[in-house]
Amino acid sequence: MVSDFAVTNPKATPGALVAICCLTLMVAGCGGGGNSTPPPPSFTITASPSAVLISQGSTSTPVQISVQAGNGFQGTVSVNPQGLPAGVTASPAFPLSIAAGSSQTATFTVANTLARGNYNLMFAGTSGTLSSTAPLILTVSGGAVNGPAQDFKKQVIYQIVTDRFFDGDPTNDNPPQSPGMYDSTKTNWQFYWGGDLAGIQQQMSYLAGMGVTAIWMSPPVENIDVVANLSGTAYAPYHGYWARDMQVISEHFGDVNNTWAAFDSLVAVAHQNGIRVIVDFAANDTNPNDGGEFGDLYDNGQPFASYQNDPAPPNNLFHHNPTITNYDDPFQLQYYTLDDLADLNQEITPVDGYLKSALAQFMQHGTDGFRLDAVKDVTWGWEYTLANAAFTAGPTFLYGEWDLGGTTDPTYDDAVQFSNRSGMPLLDFSLANAMRDVFANNGDFHEIDDTISQEDSDFVSPNDFVTFVDSHDLARLLSLNNNQDLLNEALALQLACRGIPVVLYGDEQYLHNDTDGGNVPYNRLWMSSFNTATTAYQLVNQMANLRQANPALAYGTSQQRWINSDVYIMERQFFNDVVLIAVNKSQSTAYDITGLYTALAPAPYTDYLSGLLGGFSIQVNAGTGGNNPVTAFNLGANTVSVWQSSTPAASPELGSLGPRVAQAGLTATLGGDGFGSSMGMVLVGTTAVTVQSWSDSSVTFVVPSVPAGNYSVAVQASGGSTSNALPLTVLTANQVPVTFTVNNVSLPAGAAIYLTGNVMELGSNAQTANSAVGPLLAVPASTTSWFIDASVPAGAQIQFTFFQVLSDGTIVPEGTSHSYSIPATGVGSVSVNW
Ligand code: NOJ
Ligand code: CA
Repeated sequence: MVSDFAVTNPKATPGALVAICCLTLMVAGCGGGGNSTPPPPSFTITASPSAVLISQGSTSTPVQISVQAGNGFQGTVSVNPQGLPAGVTASPAFPLSIAAGSSQTATFTVANTLARGNYNLMFAGTSGTLSSTAPLILTVSGGAVNGPAQDFKKQVIYQIVTDRFFDGDPTNDNPPQSPGMYDSTKTNWQFYWGGDLAGIQQQMSYLAGMGVTAIWMSPPVENIDVVANLSGTAYAPYHGYWARDMQVISEHFGDVNNTWAAFDSLVAVAHQNGIRVIVDFAANDTNPNDGGEFGDLYDNGQPFASYQNDPAPPNNLFHHNPTITNYDDPFQLQYYTLDDLADLNQEITPVDGYLKSALAQFMQHGTDGFRLDAVKDVTWGWEYTLANAAFTAGPTFLYGEWDLGGTTDPTYDDAVQFSNRSGMPLLDFSLANAMRDVFANNGDFHEIDDTISQEDSDFVSPNDFVTFVDSHDLARLLSLNNNQDLLNEALALQLACRGIPVVLYGDEQYLHNDTDGGNVPYNRLWMSSFNTATTAYQLVNQMANLRQANPALAYGTSQQRWINSDVYIMERQFFNDVVLIAVNKSQSTAYDITGLYTALAPAPYTDYLSGLLGGFSIQVNAGTGGNNPVTAFNLGANTVSVWQSSTPAASPELGSLGPRVAQAGLTATLGGDGFGSSMGMVLVGTTAVTVQSWSDSSVTFVVPSVPAGNYSVAVQASGGSTSNALPLTVLTANQVPVTFTVNNVSLPAGAAIYLTGNVMELGSNAQTANSAVGPLLAVPASTTSWFIDASVPAGAQIQFTFFQVLSDGTIVPEGTSHSYSIPATGVGSVSVNW
């Protein structure tokens, strides 16, 4: 894009204009009979391109600055950039002297400390009294990422429904193998609208300028080729959740040959700009069993599983159970059908292998992490093995979708156990529901505060939660309450909260469509503008940069410092790093904030958001015990203020360990501060382990061969000082799923039955519900057979046994144990009599 601003001579006086005119007339030798006065000489300057994307620590492509002469202008123009930020150096050095009709190129080198964002420059050219300007937008993206990140806590994720974001390649809009599912008018909400992977790539400057460091894309795999006609409506799988072949890329999002080219290209450009790529991966099901392709699944183009022609048990590739009606029933959740989606039977080797190899293939193509769809609905034990398979395939980050109403939801305890034992963080539905109630329904801030404290005491690693306010499955906040101030306030708080924040595409453009309450599909709007000037876009940029700069957001603990139904003042603290955020969501009431204490050191603090949401400065005074009084202030209605300070660590401070659950030989990553520049040691328990890489803020090490169990991990700097510790569960070996069945058990009413055994994964023979595996589920149509699918060490020879927990807590042990040889690969099953 070339922009040019016409000029003229703003300083010329009427007298000078007359003089130039006379001169021109004389040169032209006009006899005085003409009455057209030729315009005076002038010039314009242009910069091409007018926008460049530069990764931190690198140099831009050349920008050509040209001088176009007008009306015989023949001078030389001196060009200077205005608004060049500190941290950017130009080559050659400015000013440039550019002769009329010619051009020069310049490149810009960006320091790796310059914050991500859009910087508006203006080239000013002058020649005598003439001048002209040309704008240039420098978008500074993150430094190139190299290798996968296991520590995602400093990331800000941007969620994209690929079909609805940007059409970068019209040739895939209506592909030949799945035609007639595209609506160019974008009025049929159930059809494809043309967005694709090339489109995401083409918007890299927009994404980078917003400061986001990861994108989560809707499932990019090939989906069904024909519409599913359901209850009289034709549905196309524009959302990507109706897989047909998980081993190839959709022809609607990539190319018509289903190759990986567009995916690979997007990953390369994203990584070049410091942006991680997260793929939404649905392991629960394939596609509707009642229309379209009736659940069928292909493996790289070859038929793999037919729902309607499925082998009989035990070789069935699908479960053929009714639709889930009770979302609190563990058996229904794991083995029934989610809506009408053909439910895969992960407990047989071909399906297990298909899903794990599909995920591994995405890793080979550079995928940095996975959002695992519907983890509440897939066999839980099998999913532990999926997580382990992913971590075994290479460093990665996973988070699961376990839908919860809140911390009193009947499956909340199952979610806690699932996340803590598998090492897989979850999307934070409880917090999202509290946030949505507070910001859309004028709920009380105690809801948010109570949720955070409950979850933080139950989950091993609350900073690994993936937080959200809006999602592709929920009506947008603006549909619930069309108030942009409240959306800004919700985003600001979410971006300061513990957990890795996700921003749904379009929230930063205040997108919403309120048809049917704004529910699906009306929340999946076309991204109609890419305006980088909105308040929300700038807010995300600033909070994302703060997350990079101040470890309190990524690694800190959370503390409520002041609260009423309208006001929430929350502090995040990681050693000497502190962020304090104050939110007043009231539309009309300002509050006097007295009696506020903070861990910020005594000093004045300005608003980190520079007043973007009405923030201001505060004065912190000397107190005791990390509780420093803040001079009373008035917090106006609809205000967010952020105060912060970050101090380089003098000794190692450990904030992150991933994966938290791993077997010997896997690489694990530690994140924190003050590890020092020279290599020290990593201690797993008391064992010093092999360090693979070392920097002041990140260390990777190899999980050692130690007896399976729970360990504390700490970093010891080369000078000898040792960090705080974080928990690591060392597994016996890589994991495979085994279905354990026990027969001949008539359980008394209110009793439950559990599995234990002589490996850590089964609870090391402990006969307590908290350590063992279970409770077991009833085998369908039986009253005396019980089963569970458990994640156990591949190739191990084990002893296992069962015990009952009666309603009064009495333990009834089986009293005997069984041997089993766990397969080295694939899946296993074993059935015994009590
Ligand atoms: C949850 C996803 O987020 C939703 O969009 C999808 O339809 C279902 N899982 C089924 O895959
Ligand atoms: Ca397209």
